[in-house]
Amino acid sequence: MMKFAFVTGANKGIGYEVVRQLAEENYTVFLGARNEELGLKAVESLGKSNVSYVQVDVTDTESIENAKDKILEVTDHLDLLINNAGIALDFGISPTELKIETLREEFNVNFFGTFQMIQTFLPLVKNAQRGKIVNVTTDMASQTMFDNGQAGHLNLLGYNSSKTAANALTLSFGKEFGIDGLEIFSVTPGFTSTDLNGNAPGGKTTAEGAKIIVDYALSENGYNGKVLNNSGIIPW
Ligand SMILES: NC(=O)c1ccc[n+]([C@@H]2O[C@H](COP(=O)([O-])OP(=O)(O)OC[C@H]3O[C@@H](n4cnc5c(N)ncnc54)[C@H](OP(=O)(O)O)[C@@H]3O)[C@@H](O)[C@H]2O)c1
Repeated sequence: MMKFAFVTGANKGIGYEVVRQLAEENYTVFLGARNEELGLKAVESLGKSNVSYVQVDVTDTESIENAKDKILEVTDHLDLLINNAGIALDFGISPTELKIETLREEFNVNFFGTFQMIQTFLPLVKNAQRGKIVNVTTDMASQTMFDNGQAGHLNLLGYNSSKTAANALTLSFGKEFGIDGLEIFSVTPGFTSTDLNGNAPGGKTTAEGAKIIVDYALSENGYNGKVLNNSGIIPW
């Protein structure tokens, strides 16, 4: 059976590299991007016949439904749904200064968007032989690691807590699944220099960050309901 993957927020950064690496593993990949021009350009620059563009804004119900219809024209199953789209708007903003509108925007993409993507595409993931949903997270979303300093000291209330909430999706859906090989888990690529952090120096390359996600996505080990970094399961 042909293998299919859908990656959101893939016109650049880590998502773009995840698409490249999955395409090299012979997946037929739908490169998701909210902006059509950027999405088409990304597909063109990859230059791979097994990658095509699907418009998806994860905050827009109609866009998500249209993406599903477009994918259903090609396949009834998705082996991988990679919820990679994400935003961080509160670098340098303390919890005291954080505006509620900013917090809402971050939750809208990182939490509500991920939730709706999971619910909408679940039937296709269930149709795969061993479908997996991968939520891209950060170690700063781990309350334990943030508290004990293992996740650094960036106190981004909006970004961190919206990713914590998204990890709760992993736990809850994971408790519901646990059957027929269907899996959902979160993976953090670790600090990677991308537009998200203003291309801050000292991070991994996008190819290195993406490889961590792709390795888990392709693993046969079974990580349902877990949050993972490059060395294994991390605490909530
Ligand atoms: N970089 C790191 O150090 C790091 C560490 C841990 C986790 N992560 C996570 O890795 C993922 C990828 O981030 P990145 O570092 O590669 O950042 P990036 O280069 O800024 O890429 C983010 C992607 O998400 C897309 N996006 C934003 N809002 C969207 C929406 N409403 N609907 C659909 N797509 C949307 C962006 O599209 P536009 O181009 O249209 O804005 C872009 O394609 C994120 O979930 C991030 O939280 C990153």
